[in-house]
Amino acid sequence: MRRIILFTGKGGVGKTTLSSATAVYLAELGKKTLVVSVDPAHSLSDVFEIELSPEPREIYPNLHAQEIDVYYSVEKFWGKLQEYLKSLLKWQGVEEVLSEELAILPGMEEVCSFLWINQHFSEGKFDVIIVDSAPTGETLRLLSLPDSASWWIKRVLPLQRKLMKFIRPAARMITDMPLPEDETYDALEELFYQVYHLYYTLQDPKISSVRIVTNPEKMVLRETEKAYTYLHLFGFNIDAILLNRVPTDRDSSESFREKYVEIIKNTFHPTPVFEIPQFKEEVLGIESLRKLGRAIYGDRDPSEIFFQDSPFDIIEENGHYVLKLYLREIPEAEPEIYRKDEDLIIKIKNFKKFFYLPRVLAKREIAKATISNNQLQIYFS
Ligand SMILES: Nc1ncnc2c1ncn2[C@@H]1O[C@H](COP(=O)(O)OP(=O)(O)OP(=O)(O)O)[C@@H](O)[C@H]1O
Ligand SMILES: [Mg+2]
Repeated sequence: MRRIILFTGKGGVGKTTLSSATAVYLAELGKKTLVVSVDPAHSLSDVFEIELSPEPREIYPNLHAQEIDVYYSVEKFWGKLQEYLKSLLKWQGVEEVLSEELAILPGMEEVCSFLWINQHFSEGKFDVIIVDSAPTGETLRLLSLPDSASWWIKRVLPLQRKLMKFIRPAARMITDMPLPEDETYDALEELFYQVYHLYYTLQDPKISSVRIVTNPEKMVLRETEKAYTYLHLFGFNIDAILLNRVPTDRDSSESFREKYVEIIKNTFHPTPVFEIPQFKEEVLGIESLRKLGRAIYGDRDPSEIFFQDSPFDIIEENGHYVLKLYLREIPEAEPEIYRKDEDLIIKIKNFKKFFYLPRVLAKREIAKATISNNQLQIYFS
């Protein structure tokens, strides 16, 4: 089965490094692998210490790498529509230079970069596509887009097109305003179709996995929790949390485990958490990446689907919301549940777990909580 594995996480946590290490490991296992960076601030070439281009380039047996160029991608996927918008803006008296800028809608650059994944996946040249994506905030915004796209496809496009057919001849007589032609609509439909197809593929848990990279630091973890909640709500399968830069020197590692690692494992249970040591030197070049790859996955194949299930559920029962969370063990005492900002904090003796509440729940009061087996059910008013 061909796979797409998308790495995301807060800025600077190690997304590029871990995606590269994963790709090197896969290539050594004989899988045809592409590692592609969709983050406009590229650094794949720095990590591999090899010059890369906007088209995939073989850099090692079985391993291709690509740094997507935003302008090139926009031209490729948005070009025809950009032309139309430009002519429309010019007609309204907008200057050439500015119309060039404005004809790229917000988010379009990122979307176009993402569409490469579609193309590579459809062509089927690679067994595994590793995506080094932008920091979580941007990735979340991008991944929540398809719902609005499908809304446009269903409702606005067909109507507009019919209307245009009807009014174009009359409009021609009274205005020289550039009107969208059938081919503009074709291009728009094609684009929407591709975006739709891409998200469909990214939401198929048998094909795509998201791996969130994080560090054992408070601020980073908070953003990880948030991404974890929302990515799941948007329907993406998170198959692992990669806890990067865990200190290994003996003194700090013991207290670190107590302080962070256990809480992190509780927090993301049942999603597996991979602990990755802090290396002494910066991770650069194939040799270091190979070592890091082993440190992440051990003997496991990095293209495995490490987890595929619902890590939590939010259901509605007679107008009330119930949040179902899985605990790592059957609790021996009554849980203490409280809220701090959007964070739900669950404490049972020494056990502690965090959960980032999505907006619908953050506004509500906690009414009661019950436990059955390892499942905690929290009722909101
Ligand atoms: N396990 C590790 N041991 C030692 N150094 C690491 C480790 N993981 C990452 N680094 C170093 O941390 C720095 C940041 O890593 P990287 O560039 O991969 O992060 P990023 O999440 O891609 O950042 P950005 O958000 O800027 O794209 C790099 O200098 C990298 O070499
Ligand atoms: Mg990076």
